[in-house]
Amino acid sequence: MSSTAIAHPNIALIKYWGKADERLSLPATDSLSLTLDIAPTRTTVTLDPGADQHVASWSGEPMTGRELERVSTFLDLVAERAGSRTRAVVETVNEIPTGAGLASSAAGFAALAAAASAAYGLALSPRDLSRLARRGSGSAARSVFGGLVQWHAGDDEGSFAEPIEAPGLELALVVAVLAAGRKAIGSREAMRRTVATSPFFGAWVASVPGELDAMRAAIARADLSAVGELAESNAMRMHATMLGAVPPVRYWNADTVAALDVVAQCRRDGIEAYATIDAGPNVKVLCRPEATTAVADRLRAAFADVDLLVSGSGPGVRILGP
Ligand code: DP6
Repeated sequence: MSSTAIAHPNIALIKYWGKADERLSLPATDSLSLTLDIAPTRTTVTLDPGADQHVASWSGEPMTGRELERVSTFLDLVAERAGSRTRAVVETVNEIPTGAGLASSAAGFAALAAAASAAYGLALSPRDLSRLARRGSGSAARSVFGGLVQWHAGDDEGSFAEPIEAPGLELALVVAVLAAGRKAIGSREAMRRTVATSPFFGAWVASVPGELDAMRAAIARADLSAVGELAESNAMRMHATMLGAVPPVRYWNADTVAALDVVAQCRRDGIEAYATIDAGPNVKVLCRPEATTAVADRLRAAFADVDLLVSGSGPGVRILGP
């Protein structure tokens, strides 16, 4: 009747940008990510047999409007699979600033999928849990697993994430929180616009498989600089694709560009550091765990009171308690 799950955000090194099917949340391409070990989301789902609608809260604040609608639609899907008409109460505690491109929906829906499926009595395999989480938010399919994860494009049955072996490759990420407010345009709408109007979208879809193959090979040989170069160029291509939309989708601000300069300067100075950027202005710097202090120092020197989050590789979703 009640279940609590915890999940961590993930950052894509080969991005997901654009859906092949909106209703089923099927991506146009495969993507590949690193699950983080910071900023987890903890979600408790409790069935409430007396209630006539789902209710949800975020750190004690009731969810309303589109946010609540998205959670309710997801809960309906889980309830339907369980053959139940019972409504649920969802309590979510999230440590990450929402809407800032820090992938909060990935951790959120991975935790919700795990807690809700357990509360409704569904015993799902990790693969089926990933397929379910995908319906809440595409990137949530990846947060079901820890470490490096590939999410497959495909049909409803075939589109799930799975972990990738990465012996000897230790990755860390320094997140520069350059703006923690809500983003100008949500990624869902921005993807839709990119797919519908960017003449570069076809090229994006065509280029991802080759980038993924190269990334898989770089991971297999634990080649951090190749992993970083591929991740950085993939992120630039994703943003180039959305800049081609009408009207253009631009998440960068002046600080974003300045942070890219910091990362480039790190490399010139012999620090292996590579940038990736999601649907927001923040820059995430991929590096070796032993380089995070040097990278953080450089970012602090460039941006006086910037908030920095330092992460290593984190675990997949898990159910807490009995
Ligand atoms: C830029 O998974 O948030 O972070 O499926 O519409 O919920 P929806 O989108 P979402 O998009 C993530 C986009 C990205 C790239 C990535 O994480 O791969």
